[in-house]
Amino acid sequence: MTIDASVHRGGDEPGRSVPAASLHVKNLLGIADLGADDITLLLDTAVAMKEVGSRAIKKVPALRGKTVVNLFFEPSTRTRTSFEVAEKRLSADTLNIAASTSSVTKGETLVDTALNLEAMAPDMIVLRHASSGACHLLSRVCRSRVINAGDGMHEHPTQALLDAFTIREHKGRLAGLKVAIVGDLLHSRVLRSNLLLLTRMGADVWVSGPTTLIPPGVERFGVRATWRIEEAVEGADVIMMLRIQRERMQGHFFPSLREYFTVFGLTAARARLAKPDVIIMHPGPMNRGVEIASDVADGPYSVILEQVANGVAVRMAVLYLLAGGVMEGV
Ligand code: CP
Repeated sequence: MTIDASVHRGGDEPGRSVPAASLHVKNLLGIADLGADDITLLLDTAVAMKEVGSRAIKKVPALRGKTVVNLFFEPSTRTRTSFEVAEKRLSADTLNIAASTSSVTKGETLVDTALNLEAMAPDMIVLRHASSGACHLLSRVCRSRVINAGDGMHEHPTQALLDAFTIREHKGRLAGLKVAIVGDLLHSRVLRSNLLLLTRMGADVWVSGPTTLIPPGVERFGVRATWRIEEAVEGADVIMMLRIQRERMQGHFFPSLREYFTVFGLTAARARLAKPDVIIMHPGPMNRGVEIASDVADGPYSVILEQVANGVAVRMAVLYLLAGGVMEGV
């Protein structure tokens, strides 16, 4: 399928070009399905999309006539709004459905909800769900393209893509960088998607957290694990902090939040162990004083709000390419 792919400045002035290519997948269910060429295409396309966001008129007709349903069964601030902004910038018609205001509260299943929405002929469904695998299930019953906006503890592919985009903007590459990912590794879909993406693109990835929160066998991803945050961040080009996901925890994994911060929190002193030009990342939502000190989160090395801004460009790229966009004359 090829859509009207012209992403013109203000509607008639040509902008930058990237090579014509298409993704090897029909849906974005996880980074696990993407090759290095898909990831590079998505990141390169996001560069062009970011330029669209810098124009006086931040709107292009690429998805005119397409309908996108944003179906969120879990809370979200960044991902939901970012997808909606991305869809509007591409001129798609958008529908936002939150589980709390839908007939899910009356007992309707995910599949029935999706099939009823499908009856209205949307082109794409963006799904966030508490169950790992929910997006795969939807992709088997729906004709629409399915985009994973976070499924349980499984994957959050657009988060990993926007993280990679932000790293690439600062460092010019992913290969060979030391990336330290620290926090609640066990419950994190952001971790899994980032491990898949960063190792596929040649980064040297270290993970750190309490031993109770390090997934058994995580080394199989081709990463190094340590409970000593100092070892993980030493000489790092990138430090990515992850939130303690208390909503997914059953039982106690560490004595108290205060002790967690003392042993595993990113303080300015620990950040100084990294490279002098380190960038500090966090997918949000952030718990200040738990996994990261406020002066670090707001400090000169933090790119946390850049990640949010880049999320729009990356999600525009995902929507555009899944809709069949070919970046010619962009
Ligand atoms: N990073 C992220 O997924 O944030 P939200 O839960 O607010 O969407």
